[in-house]
Amino acid sequence: MTRFCQVLPLRISVQMEPSVIPTASSNSNANVGTASRPAGAMPDEIPEGVTENAPEGPQGLIERPALVGTSWVKNIWYFALPSDHVKKGKTVSMNLLGDLILIGRKSDGSIFAMRDICPHQGAPLSFGRFDGNQVSCPFHGWKFDSDGVCTDIPALCSDQQVNVCKIKTRSYPCQEADGNIWLYYGEPRAEMPDIPRAHGLDGLKYDQTVSRVIVPTHMDYAVVALIDPAHVPYVHKSWWWRNDSALKEKKKLYVPAGTGWTMVKHKPSKGSLLFKLIGDFLETEIAFRLPGCRTEYIQLFGRTAVASMTTVTPIDENTCELNHTSYWTFTGWKWLLKPIVNAMADEFLGQDLQIAQRQQIGLKFKPKLTMIVKDSGLPGSWYFQGKREWNNATEEGRKFVNPIKERVLRWMT
Ligand code: FES
Ligand SMILES: [Fe+2]
Repeated sequence: MTRFCQVLPLRISVQMEPSVIPTASSNSNANVGTASRPAGAMPDEIPEGVTENAPEGPQGLIERPALVGTSWVKNIWYFALPSDHVKKGKTVSMNLLGDLILIGRKSDGSIFAMRDICPHQGAPLSFGRFDGNQVSCPFHGWKFDSDGVCTDIPALCSDQQVNVCKIKTRSYPCQEADGNIWLYYGEPRAEMPDIPRAHGLDGLKYDQTVSRVIVPTHMDYAVVALIDPAHVPYVHKSWWWRNDSALKEKKKLYVPAGTGWTMVKHKPSKGSLLFKLIGDFLETEIAFRLPGCRTEYIQLFGRTAVASMTTVTPIDENTCELNHTSYWTFTGWKWLLKPIVNAMADEFLGQDLQIAQRQQIGLKFKPKLTMIVKDSGLPGSWYFQGKREWNNATEEGRKFVNPIKERVLRWMT
């Protein structure tokens, strides 16, 4: 069996402040989704009730939402890993969603996910054997099927009757979409929510590659950074992309869509060298969906040429994963394009990681923040509104009502 953290090291080669890479023992399931306060969460001096709907301050500032850094949404799908990282007859152990999770692919090609902790005495099942159908624990050999139900306790004598199927390790619903595996976190329900999809790829053949970083912040901070257009000219500087000189006004139409919003299709701005050269022939569409998924398509003459999906998945309260899947539809060039695309994505993710690490230096002091500043900060505010509505809707057993209204946002970038 494969221990995921060992087989997929960070690709980022830049040496930066050490990131927190949690181990199984650093996790406690008891903390999942609760309101214990991580470093950098809501400081005490900001009164309760200051929310994302708080009145604007004198300079168009909106106070930081009260729920930042305290929870992640339940009853929703989270990105786990690329499908091709789980081969037939193999399993992978991942530290995600406040738990240790075993993801496997059976001999028939179907995938499954269960808690990677034996309900007998706690040994991770990933150290045991997987025969393509059942997992056996490395400690006393108890066997579990792919639903996490115990099927055998080898130490029992034939006359020692135990209803072994009453013993179970938690199973996670899982599905594959657009070349990736997603895990459902929460209570399964009759009508499961949609997995965030890369719809611009529907009906097209594509190649893909994934870059990953582990970010030492609560997922809220990573999501806010992911959808924040104002950091781009400062954090994502490179000779082939752009720098922070000559900021220009951008004006984009946002419409509510699914559990988030779509920035409607437009010509890419020519702030970067790449788009200066070929931007006239392109159109791009950017979207965000809960719990933390940003997709982008770039279409050439109306057909998706490249696309990306960047997802944030919590590891625990203070750490999350950022996975950036790049897709391209001119197939057959993977041998050439994969290393180039990975190098570019790694540089981007490395820049986001570095600023997140630096942000933590300040957040340790629990400063009072003015996190949401319009217009560039409004997507961050919408994210918190969406989270709250999702939690309310799933608790009340009703449909999600998108709280976002169509509007044009303007910012300098
Ligand atoms: S700890 Fe797994 S069988 Fe005992
Ligand atoms: Fe970024």
